[in-house]
Amino acid sequence: MNEPPAHPTPMIETHDVVKVYADGKVRALDGVDLTVGPGEFVAVTGPSGCGKSTLLGLLAALDTPDSGTIRVGSHDLVRLQDSDRFRRQAVGLVFQLHNLLPRLTVLENVEIAMMGSDRPRGDRAGHAARLLEGVGLGAMADRRPPQLSGGERQRVAVARALANDPPLLLADEPTGSLDSRSVATVLALFEGLRADRGVTVVLVTHDGDVAAAADRIIPMLDGRVVGA
Ligand SMILES: Nc1ncnc2c1ncn2[C@@H]1O[C@H](COP(=O)(O)OP(=O)(O)OP(=O)(O)O)[C@@H](O)[C@H]1O
Ligand SMILES: [Mg+2]
Repeated sequence: MNEPPAHPTPMIETHDVVKVYADGKVRALDGVDLTVGPGEFVAVTGPSGCGKSTLLGLLAALDTPDSGTIRVGSHDLVRLQDSDRFRRQAVGLVFQLHNLLPRLTVLENVEIAMMGSDRPRGDRAGHAARLLEGVGLGAMADRRPPQLSGGERQRVAVARALANDPPLLLADEPTGSLDSRSVATVLALFEGLRADRGVTVVLVTHDGDVAAAADRIIPMLDGRVVGA
């Protein structure tokens, strides 16, 4: 009989990732080595400009590194053929500026993320409604984003990020503009996702109290992961 592997396959594994921005002067990432296990909840912290958003953007295949390797699940992001498909299937993204569409209802904002997915059209509205219930906003499905508080909008953004059941959630300062109660709600949501569905969560934050909610803190400085 085969022994089970000593270490499960990581959800994220990067080696020596370098990202230099176009003018060649900014080495935004300067050799990032990072491993995150499946079902881990990690917080990436560090001073402004140290490369946190750049790293998250590479993990989401929004951009490509100049050198180094990045694996997310079974995907080699350096050789990825179809990054739209990867983003639709493999990751959920939450940004500080959540980019909800103001003219659509909350339900439609979640449903629209399922465009191009395998979920049958007839099932999408029901699934969106369930996701909104999951973030405590079932009663607000018919409102539009301008009629919600900042914390409520952020929870819609989380529901939208989960629309296609991604195994990995990437969140860049998702609590940055929120009051402390909304921060607690969003953090509880992330913890619940990990506990209930085994979702891996990578959270970028300036805030030490927010980072303390994670299993592990990944400190960055000058484009590198330090002492993790
Ligand atoms: N598109 C770009 N073109 C040129 N330089 C960029 C670009 N995006 C980011 N940078 C630079 O790369 C470095 C890392 O930026 P990044 O946005 O990753 O930092 P950050 O850690 O997310 O900062 P913050 O906490 O302020 O969000 C910074 O020096 C920034 O000025
Ligand atoms: Mg940033």
